[in-house]
Amino acid sequence: MKNTLAIIKPDAMKKGYKDDIRNEIKKNGFIIVEEKTLHMTNTHAEGFYAIHKDKPFFGELIEFMTSHESHIMKLEKENAVIEWRNLMGATDSKKAEPGTIRATYGTDISMNATHGSDSDENAQIEIKYFFHD
Ligand code: RTP
Ligand code: MG
Repeated sequence: MKNTLAIIKPDAMKKGYKDDIRNEIKKNGFIIVEEKTLHMTNTHAEGFYAIHKDKPFFGELIEFMTSHESHIMKLEKENAVIEWRNLMGATDSKKAEPGTIRATYGTDISMNATHGSDSDENAQIEIKYFFHD
């Protein structure tokens, strides 16, 4: 599968890292097929992260994702889902491998700079959610 959904989250947008992260994405061989900047509403964020609705961090996650603009991108590369998750690094920026995007631009487990789809199936759902509504 060649596509995945990437999001530059509110923390990284607020800090002005959008261009740096886009450049790293392109430098690593991804094509940005579609992109848009969007300030998520509660409805957007709750629908997007519905899988986490019963988690203790859900309220905090929605508050974070609606706190500022996000930059949403459809990426293309061979094995896009795995390749983008590898480039992002671990969920917790404090534990992410040095050189990964989350290690470089994120802060901790909540404010971790970027999102990436976790499977080909979810990538198709998430791309549709933001680009074909
Ligand atoms: P994402 O979906 O954003 O790409 O992140 P992920 O797959 O690496 O991690 P996931 O388990 O799907 O969590 C989604 C987002 O929720 C926030 N989170 N906070 N406070 C916490 O314990 C906690 N755990 C997760 C993070 O923003 C995480 O990316
Ligand atoms: Mg996830």
